[in-house]
Amino acid sequence: MNKQIKYKIESLVKKINDHNTQYYIHDNPIISDYEYDVLLKELQNLENQYPDFIIQNSPTQRVGVKPLDKFSQVTHRIPLLSLSNAMNSEELELFNTQMKKGLNKNIEYVGEPKLDGLAVELIYENGKFVKGSTRGDGHVGEDITENLKTIKAIPLYLNDDYAIPSILEVRGEVFINHTDFENLNKKRMESRESLFANPRNCAAGSLRQLDSSVTATRPLRIYCYAPGHIEGLTFNSQIEFLKTLPKWGLPVNQETQIGTGKDFLFKYFEYIESIRNNLPYDIDGVVFKVNSYEDQQTLGTRSRSPRWAIAAKLKAVQATTI
Ligand code: IVH
Repeated sequence: MNKQIKYKIESLVKKINDHNTQYYIHDNPIISDYEYDVLLKELQNLENQYPDFIIQNSPTQRVGVKPLDKFSQVTHRIPLLSLSNAMNSEELELFNTQMKKGLNKNIEYVGEPKLDGLAVELIYENGKFVKGSTRGDGHVGEDITENLKTIKAIPLYLNDDYAIPSILEVRGEVFINHTDFENLNKKRMESRESLFANPRNCAAGSLRQLDSSVTATRPLRIYCYAPGHIEGLTFNSQIEFLKTLPKWGLPVNQETQIGTGKDFLFKYFEYIESIRNNLPYDIDGVVFKVNSYEDQQTLGTRSRSPRWAIAAKLKAVQATTI
């Protein structure tokens, strides 16, 4: 009897976590929100009856026990740099010229949408999510581990069907989709709560909650885009890194592309500009990174931004008033 219940709990955990992967990594939900909630409810009921059988990667273990008094500080092992901007096509072209000069060849780039959210760092030790922090001033941020654990797109444990590093620090952007944002504001209006001005504000406020059960009610998502300190595994390029993350269960923006030279920079920029209004989230630019990590090393960094990357700015959009 107990064996059966234990098995039932384990299979529900697996099922729900797999649905999270479908939803947040592949953007391809196979059950409705209602069906998802039914599974979650069933798991919660069983866990309430048999608390000894609760397992660590259960989706019910995302909300911490009690609110914090304040956030503690986290010193980043590798600073979270910011990006220099290209405001127009001349500046984008200049970037390519500088890269060519520095490396003496035609260069392979990775293009990524520049999400308008908040930068965070996640730390996994032997596959377990142990710490998460805000960017802060780039050197010292705040420990928001409990809040990040409530984000369903962030795995509590990495999928270890693939080799995982002993230490993985990964950076990404926390954001909210337009429809999720509108639904949240609608609910708040109905319950006469104050409305959020925009998705970014809402994401920022949600990550700053001392009570993670509040954060858990906010529809936060994440896309990962950069490595921090990693032990036990080496990556040779940005594209290799970005292709590996989803295998572990970490979401990566699917609009990411790779290409060579100036032509790619302009083509990709125009492509993102053309689809911008159809994207389900806010972006404020396009990020280009030299693909090879060896080449990145060669180019090095300035005090606050890497030489090997640039943010090509998109025109600001007029914020819609509610
Ligand atoms: S890479 C060393 N990639 O832009 C590389 N940043 O001004 C540093 N951002 O603080 C960041 N999307 O919050 C990178 N695909 C992307 C990004 C991205 C948004 C934000 C991030 C960062 C800021 C840099």
